Amino acid sequence: MREAPSTSRGRTQLSTSMSADAIDVLSLVHINLRRALGAGPMNGESSGLFASVPLLPALGVAAALVVVLSLVVVFVRNQGGKSRGALKSSIFKKAEEAATEEDVRPRVLILFGTQTGTAERFSKQLKSELAVRYGDGNRYEVLDMEEYKPENLHKEKVVFFMMATYGDGEPTDNAADFYNWLTKTASEADKGIGSAGLLETLSYGVFGLGNKQYEHFCAVGKRVHKALGVLGAKALVRRGDGDDDEDIEADFESWRTELYAGLDKCEVLVKSSDGGSGVTQIVAAAESVPSYQINILTGSEAANAEDVSSAPPVSGDGTSKDSPFLSTVSVMRELHTPQSDRSCVHVELDVSGSNITYEAGDHIAILPENGEDVISRAADVLGYPLDTVIQLAIPEGSQSSLAPPFTSKAITLRAALARYVDLLSPVSKPALQALSAFAAGEEQARLRRLLSPDGAAEYKAWHQQSRSLLEVMEEFTSCRPPLGAFFGSIMQRLQVRFYSISSSPAMHPKSIHITCAVVYMKTATGRMHEGIASYYLKQQKPGALVPVFIRHSSFKLPKELTTPIVMVGPGTGLAPFRGFLQERAELVKSGKKLGPAYLFFGCRNREQDYIYQQELERYEQSGAVDRLFVAFSREGKQKDYVQHHIAREASLVAPLLREGPESQGIFYICGDAKNMAKDVARTAVKIMADAEGISTAEAEARLKRLGDTSRIQRDVW
Ligand SMILES: Cc1cc2nc3c(=O)[nH]c(=O)nc-3n(C[C@H](O)[C@H](O)[C@H](O)COP(=O)(O)OP(=O)(O)OC[C@H]3O[C@@H](n4cnc5c(N)ncnc54)[C@H](O)[C@@H]3O)c2cc1C
Ligand SMILES: NC(=O)c1ccc[n+]([C@@H]2O[C@H](COP(=O)([O-])OP(=O)(O)OC[C@H]3O[C@@H](n4cnc5c(N)ncnc54)[C@H](OP(=O)(O)O)[C@@H]3O)[C@@H](O)[C@H]2O)c1
Ligand SMILES: Cc1cc2nc3c(=O)[nH]c(=O)nc-3n(C[C@H](O)[C@H](O)[C@H](O)COP(=O)(O)O)c2cc1C
Repeated sequence: MREAPSTSRGRTQLSTSMSADAIDVLSLVHINLRRALGAGPMNGESSGLFASVPLLPALGVAAALVVVLSLVVVFVRNQGGKSRGALKSSIFKKAEEAATEEDVRPRVLILFGTQTGTAERFSKQLKSELAVRYGDGNRYEVLDMEEYKPENLHKEKVVFFMMATYGDGEPTDNAADFYNWLTKTASEADKGIGSAGLLETLSYGVFGLGNKQYEHFCAVGKRVHKALGVLGAKALVRRGDGDDDEDIEADFESWRTELYAGLDKCEVLVKSSDGGSGVTQIVAAAESVPSYQINILTGSEAANAEDVSSAPPVSGDGTSKDSPFLSTVSVMRELHTPQSDRSCVHVELDVSGSNITYEAGDHIAILPENGEDVISRAADVLGYPLDTVIQLAIPEGSQSSLAPPFTSKAITLRAALARYVDLLSPVSKPALQALSAFAAGEEQARLRRLLSPDGAAEYKAWHQQSRSLLEVMEEFTSCRPPLGAFFGSIMQRLQVRFYSISSSPAMHPKSIHITCAVVYMKTATGRMHEGIASYYLKQQKPGALVPVFIRHSSFKLPKELTTPIVMVGPGTGLAPFRGFLQERAELVKSGKKLGPAYLFFGCRNREQDYIYQQELERYEQSGAVDRLFVAFSREGKQKDYVQHHIAREASLVAPLLREGPESQGIFYICGDAKNMAKDVARTAVKIMADAEGISTAEAEARLKRLGDTSRIQRDVW
């Protein structure tokens, strides 16, 4: 049975035969509109959408369904997790096929470096808009950076880069190789090695994705932009710096506006004879929202459907994101005392039977699930019982590349909502735009207003309240998209979460420990937000199965055992240092001579959240750590933080921060990136400046050099 046509509760029937290419949705919307207007096939007349608008009344009732949206992109592709690999290879294959077929149109390439999918979503949005605006005289391709050989860059004519920044101003995993190649090539060209004009026939645009709260805001976008310039490429537009602490969608929108203005004035893109629309203001209707075909299964067809009562269908060896392993929870315990009003859990995951090897300092990713309450509410707004067994498919005959669904097998709505859909994170603008196509009456008018250029200020205020997809769908009660549209265009994929491993293989070769602070916070709309992954972890009991994979990091103990180390890790920032101390404890046991180690830990109150207290004190006694300094921030009238203790211990710390062969100490910082890590770095600068009588600027430059040579290492989030 196919998903039933319905107009109940405001549901708008979505024709499953309308198999719009999710990536090319804007083009299709445009073409469909032209057909509806009787404009016939593209034939070279000036066919800008606005030129068509006067004909709208001729559409009668149909026109009433049409929504004028600015810069609509309704495709929100499934992201992250295990299907990314499959998806990537399909994108790659598609790109390769296109390249080998005789398509002589100039290629406009959009490359993305992403961790949680925003840069990928933006890439697809840009591609769709370019296709609408400039027509099919060019071929537009979106590629995961991991799938692109950087050595081919000099052969490209136009490339747009969507680059997210992570960690300590670093590229995402999928962009690392490309980024390293580009920055190295540019730095060599700068030194006169290699060709400074390598990319002189390339025109480009860079949009960086970041967050101003982090010290190295949009560092990757900035460095990529600079490196391209050094290699002679020509910028088509100023560099975009998107700040997701404010409104990254708005930043992207204004960057695109400038880009289009620049492109309109130059000859870089071929403007096709049929013109393209010349605009990106387009019309979107419910029937144009890219949708999966949904088959509702019953009887024997539904019998073996994936459900949350069975383990997630994961059978990898845990060594990469494409191959998660089903670990078993062996220990779960609360680390805070009953006096604490927060929660931080210690989790041990048994990885016996996997190929996982790890080192202290590495990260583990977990694939979380939404809780029962959340998925029940979601099923309610979608209007289907949780037990409904569905099968998602790309509609037959589709010439499109609607992203492959997260599973093509039979699955209960319960499992689909629990394992694959991000229901609680702040809703994105494109998702809202797609949703608005299914709203009715005053609610639709309100959403349109919010999404229109005139509603920008209102949208900004609304956006700052960070409503989740679930909240929006509960608030806008007429907004009832069919399942095909919900899974195809509205939902965002539930993302994996990383944790700094808090054990060492020297002590626990087949068990990986996590120290997880459970997120429980009031949102701006007054709702209590339970952190998706941290709550999921907290609820697991011994014996539960949790899909995981390992990500190796460069946050590592020194190779030379006698190198002195300083570890700074308040709160859960302690996690990797617990691994370091286990490692050192084993080395001490085996009689190895170790360099001095100092640990600065911080928490609110010794009666509440002094996690692993006894363990830490034991390590101090055994010599795994030489000195343990603990800052209790909420015991006295004044805040007492780790950096205050570091400043007091300047005589201990300063020698480790010296440059030159006589001092090779390593200074590690782990935990909160937005405040703590910056404040600690400032303290380190002051200590260096005071100890050596150098200026703050000189000390800052030294801090940078120490970072470049891994003598300062950060694991911050
Ligand atoms: C490399 C790395 C290592 C890490 N190591 C650790 C570790 O050792 N221990 C640890 O505890 N954590 C660690 N983290 C953080 C961890 O990955 C998760 O981010 C953390 O557990 C929160 O995830 P969550 O799914 O529970 O919360 P989420 O649901 O993702 O919420 C996280 C935050 O997003 C915001 N938010 C989400 N939804 C909304 C909404 N609707 N409205 C308003 N705000 C919202 C809130 O600020 C909230 O606090 C690490 C992160 C990285 C990248
Ligand atoms: N980006 C993410 O995905 C993510 C996810 C989870 C947590 N976090 C962040 O990570 C941090 C650590 O969380 P947690 O629960 O492990 O620790 P926590 O218990 O919130 O904090 C540990 C200690 O650090 C102190 N502290 C606060 N600001 C500081 C600063 N500027 N310098 C030094 N110390 C400071 C706290 O003091 P007071 O509280 O008394 O000020 C507390 O004593 C939190 O700030 C949280 O926002 C980020
Ligand atoms: C753990 C973590 C580290 C981050 N580090 C930085 C950073 O150093 N600089 C920055 O500008 N943004 C940083 N960000 C913000 C991201 O770059 C931003 O959220 C971006 O929109 C993510 O894009 P993506 O969804 O494509 O991965 C960080 C975000 C996280 C979660």
